[in-house]
Amino acid sequence: MDFYKPDLVKLFKNPHNFGTLEDADIEIVETNATCGDEIKMQIKLDKKTKKVVDVKYVCFGCLVCITSSSVFTDMMKGKTLAEVKKITLEDINKVLQIPITSAKLNCISLSMKAVNKGISQYEQKK
Ligand code: FES
Repeated sequence: MDFYKPDLVKLFKNPHNFGTLEDADIEIVETNATCGDEIKMQIKLDKKTKKVVDVKYVCFGCLVCITSSSVFTDMMKGKTLAEVKKITLEDINKVLQIPITSAKLNCISLSMKAVNKGISQYEQKK
């Protein structure tokens, strides 16, 4: 199985939206239960429209986790939280085009799990 296609290795070395935000509205850390790797996601929302104006993440994980987080965070920008929740693993994998094995399922979905949990917590606080 080819997780190490040149374009994915390139994205792994220079992932989009990697880093931290000073003033995030949503912040969550999630751990991949199968490997112990971790991701921290931060989301900044527009005060009026509540659309995602910025999103950053720091991931201590594998190529699949980092590249899927890069694609996912690109997709999130400009969307409402309701729209973000509708982004599927299949949407992300249309870009990555990797085989989703059971071993890699938790890697590719880690950022989505974190974001969905973060959004739930944010909505409960409102
Ligand atoms: Fe840990 Fe992929 S092996 S996130």
